[in-house]
Amino acid sequence: MLIRPRRLRQARAIRDLVQENNLSVNDFIYPMFIKDEQNAYEEIQSMPGIHRFGGERLLYEVEELLALGIKSIVLFPLTSSELKNSQAIESYNANNLTCRTIRALKKRFPELLVMTDIALDPYTDHGHDGIIVDGKIANDETVKVLCKMALAQAEAGADILGPSDMMDGRVKAIRQTLEAEGHNDVMILSYTAKYASSLYGPFRDAVKSANYGIDESIPRDKKTYQMNIANSDEALREMQHDIDEGADILMIKPAGWYLDIISRIKTSSNIPVAAYQVSGEYSMILAAVKAGLMKREQAIYESLLSIKRAGADLILSYFAKELFSM
Ligand code: PBG
Repeated sequence: MLIRPRRLRQARAIRDLVQENNLSVNDFIYPMFIKDEQNAYEEIQSMPGIHRFGGERLLYEVEELLALGIKSIVLFPLTSSELKNSQAIESYNANNLTCRTIRALKKRFPELLVMTDIALDPYTDHGHDGIIVDGKIANDETVKVLCKMALAQAEAGADILGPSDMMDGRVKAIRQTLEAEGHNDVMILSYTAKYASSLYGPFRDAVKSANYGIDESIPRDKKTYQMNIANSDEALREMQHDIDEGADILMIKPAGWYLDIISRIKTSSNIPVAAYQVSGEYSMILAAVKAGLMKREQAIYESLLSIKRAGADLILSYFAKELFSM
């Protein structure tokens, strides 16, 4: 035989030399849940090993992350139910939990990259990402609120804003707001292709945002704004809008079941591509490990390396800390 592909697999050293993709600590953004309670350290039931942090306890945790080389995080707030309402007014309160946390983090760790989420679901009493008018998620009314929210977070010092709501035209509106207010350097990592997935369940438990369907007038799911899981060309249309509207980085979400979308967007665009390994992916892997079906370290590594191989330049993952503590 002239050609024996196994020659390049015969030993660790040669395998490593010809390995095409690697995971680096430089590739990761670590999602963190925050709570308005001094020294909170509360495990999220549906996400073993993931906690809600508050006050000083958050700062200790970030210190640990930086020591591991993880220098980028994204914040998700748990909002107390008294602060939620139909108009999500707490979302743009300059003194809300997220804004206060950004300020505290940037003061203590100026080199830390802080990303935030732009969407109304932690702040609406029904848990939708938008304002409801006549039983529908009203696009343009929602975008106005998102711009106020974006401005409050930019003013608090956020480095990257992540619109995760899937309203039309929001990247442009947010970009224009930022430019008009002198925040030219604030980046937008747009959730370009965010699917109406079954994989967000544990997250909705973490931020207690799954109240929709409580009443007949509230849509029961997010299918009028998040993308149809059956579609792929549509992701390329969303990509084009986000690029034209001024996004700095595109994102696909979820990641593991959408590797084809990551790959298509990576080959069709020339701006950086991110992927979000979401809460359901995290909890599913850990459930399989717990059931004895796979080895923890191997499963975590394979799930993330596959996302990288598909074309993601950067990855949001709840495994980031564990991966670089191994
Ligand atoms: C908010 C938002 C969600 C996630 C990130 N931002 C939930 C949703 O759209 O319902 C999910 C992240 C995860 O599951 O880890 N719009």
